Amino acid sequence: MRPPYSRRASQLKASDIRELLKLTKKPKIISFAGGLPDPQCFPYKEVDVLSTEVIEEDYVKALQYGTTEGFNRLRRALARRMNQKFRTKVHADEIIVTCGAQQGLDLISKVFIDRGDIILVENPSYLGALSAFRLFQAKFAGVPMDNDGLKTDKLEKALKKFEKKSKRPFLYTVPSFQNPTGVSMTLERRKELMELASRYDLVIVEDNPYGELRYSGKAMPPLKAMDKEGRVVYLGTLSKVLSPGMRIGWVAASEGIRHKLVLAKQATDLCTSTLIQYIAHKYITEGHMVRQIKKINAVYKRKRNIMLKAMDSEFPEEVSYTRPDGGIFIWVKFPKKVNSRELLKRSIKKEKVAFVPGDAFFINEGEGLDTARFNFSYPTEERIQEGIARLGRILKKELRA
Ligand SMILES: Cc1ncc(COP(=O)(O)O)c(C=O)c1O
Repeated sequence: MRPPYSRRASQLKASDIRELLKLTKKPKIISFAGGLPDPQCFPYKEVDVLSTEVIEEDYVKALQYGTTEGFNRLRRALARRMNQKFRTKVHADEIIVTCGAQQGLDLISKVFIDRGDIILVENPSYLGALSAFRLFQAKFAGVPMDNDGLKTDKLEKALKKFEKKSKRPFLYTVPSFQNPTGVSMTLERRKELMELASRYDLVIVEDNPYGELRYSGKAMPPLKAMDKEGRVVYLGTLSKVLSPGMRIGWVAASEGIRHKLVLAKQATDLCTSTLIQYIAHKYITEGHMVRQIKKINAVYKRKRNIMLKAMDSEFPEEVSYTRPDGGIFIWVKFPKKVNSRELLKRSIKKEKVAFVPGDAFFINEGEGLDTARFNFSYPTEERIQEGIARLGRILKKELRA
């Protein structure tokens, strides 16, 4: 049989990294590769009680189809939380509740991307966003980053190139505790970015799954809080603060864009799970979320500190890494002669430790081969210490050779 695949489907190929990382599912392997929350932090008892309450109180509505925009009381609760926490001025009407932030990326792709369009992205960037955009046959213009986040001077250079084109690219960015680098854009850069956006009429897609996971440093306003012209399309999610299995995310966008996204979602899945939206609404409005975020931040802060301390003592001096104020990732830079894909193979085989080679997050093949992403939220404290010590042993041996 020859299935009549679309051109789009020909883009769908499993990456070799994913194949390699399948090995990391074995319990003996200490894996820093995923981006999973710590299951010890899941508030399963509260979710259990709230699920029963939702069914008892309103099963007729909770088990029914809902509107595509989402459950109104949840939309109001999400807008209120954003406005209190981040000083945004988002109205509940601007919110669409999605099946995770990832669906937001899919809907944005459907609404904004034609085949061959160029998207501006941080380089390196979140792999799931690159995959979502690639599926719509997008191309990328990478904007380099440093420890202060996306380099706005480089962005301006790129924007100048598109000034006269009839269709300009949008920018996709994760300004706070970025996946994969853990880097946060400074306030200065955020201001510069918003000025550029205004000057070059740029739409910004701001993805902020980690904004509330901050363990040190100063709080940064999301770009959405600095957006006076409705040009920031904001993606939020409960995945990293509550549970990724509940699949609750949201998009906050100005009226015209929101309307298009709703139409795209209608054709995609009609609505996000009503039952889970009811549970999430209760979870937020009955005060559980505030306690949960405090708890997670305390656990992840300890884990971040343990990973950094282990890297400080176990990694050879030539290896450098970010010291993020929040989020769940540390970005490691090896000396040039290290090929992190090869290192991964050896480290799985010899020491049973895994991480993600950094080239996976770059837009061009072969870029960032001397980098790697390490996750600290999922492994236990003991496994963080042990895994980093084991990797340190390999690195010391290889760099001496
Ligand atoms: C930057 C970024 N955006 C989006 C997502 C997807 O989140 P969700 O579970 O809400 O779909 C992730 C998950 O790791 C992420 O790191």
